[in-house]
Amino acid sequence: MTTTETPSYPMARQCPFSPPDEMREIRESEPVTRARIWDGSTPWLVTRYSDVRAVLADQRFSSDPFRAGYPHAAPSRKIRQTRMRPSFIMMDDPEHARLRRMLIGEFTVKRTEKLLPLVEQAIADLLDAMEAGENPTDLVQAFALPLPSLVICHLLGVPYSDHAFFQEQSHALLDLTAGEEAVIAASDALMGYLDRLVDDRRRSPQDDLISRLAARIDTGELEVDDVSSMAFLLLVAGHETTANMIGLGTLTLLRHPDQAALVREGDDATVRSAVEELLRMLTITHIGRRRVATEDVEVGGTVIREGEGVIVAAEAANRDPEKYPEPDELDVTRGTNQHVAFGFGIHQCLGQPLARLELRIAYPALLRRFPDLRVTVPDEQIRFREQMAVYGVHELPVAF
Ligand code: HEM
Repeated sequence: MTTTETPSYPMARQCPFSPPDEMREIRESEPVTRARIWDGSTPWLVTRYSDVRAVLADQRFSSDPFRAGYPHAAPSRKIRQTRMRPSFIMMDDPEHARLRRMLIGEFTVKRTEKLLPLVEQAIADLLDAMEAGENPTDLVQAFALPLPSLVICHLLGVPYSDHAFFQEQSHALLDLTAGEEAVIAASDALMGYLDRLVDDRRRSPQDDLISRLAARIDTGELEVDDVSSMAFLLLVAGHETTANMIGLGTLTLLRHPDQAALVREGDDATVRSAVEELLRMLTITHIGRRRVATEDVEVGGTVIREGEGVIVAAEAANRDPEKYPEPDELDVTRGTNQHVAFGFGIHQCLGQPLARLELRIAYPALLRRFPDLRVTVPDEQIRFREQMAVYGVHELPVAF
């Protein structure tokens, strides 16, 4: 293939609510193809639902960014992934499994449901504050960001009063256009902060996740660095993702008043179905899961050679018409849809019960409290997060 025939990845979106049109064409015509990325290399791009699940479930594909051939998403990601202490999202089994296992009990559906009163209270408080505050307001700052941030801080034992600090670092770390210095500064600042917190909880344990992990240092199961890296991963993954699902999800519902009405007035099953449908449609982790083959593997009739990189495009898989009838239609009654927005296989999102809990309470509570909720600017004036590792909206001006 010549350079001109090889598509570039990522591609520009035509509509902010859908993956690029070119992705659809590629999925139809060449579902396993080469794509050119920022550094000139041409890893494989996998776009069909069945192939995406097959790659993510196959441990012959590694998540280790230190391996030659790993397709980094941007220079900033490469710096972050190769200069920082790795967390288990970047590791393969058995080390990945060893570390993940220590957290599984913290994130079961049963354990997470115990957070329901806390989540409901946080939502009620934020909506009260919004009602008493300025109108119009920015929904991201007033509601979408503080909710997951409060919840993850409570769970980890990170003081929420420091939220401005870690939200700023986390933002810098997810910015695909960030320069080397900014990435290193943000990463060092956040890691230093967490190192101090881990040290503190080791000496004076409290009833929180960091204290429980820190207790494993003295048993020799974990190093201090391991605990800080795990806390880092949870802190960043725990608030930016859910926050953007709340922001972009609300915007999407407001553009489909019939669907918003189903969420506002629907029963628990309808709301749960709506959450899954929004996760599928929006696939906010929009820069592809990144993998590298550790041996030759056939995917959808194409042999991917050992050492070759793979971009696993969940955003394309989640719109595959072979899996989903009318894939581009928002249908909040679609039911369990087996989307891959939380990934699949051994790295499948650990925090998904928590994200689901927050979303299924947040959307209806917001829509019920403010039945006249509306966006005050046209789509063209909304800043979508195309240059961020997690998609969504930077701000969402709303009136209510
Ligand atoms: C709507 C919200 C969320 C979305 C869309 C999302 C998405 C994802 C995806 C796609 C992966 C797979 C990464 C891969 O295959 O390389 C992942 C992994 C992960 N997520 Fe989430 N996530 C969300 C919320 C959360 C929350 C709330 C937490 C923590 C409390 C969390 C913690 C993690 C962790 C620790 C991993 C790594 C799992 C592993 O490598 O074994 N996520 N997430």
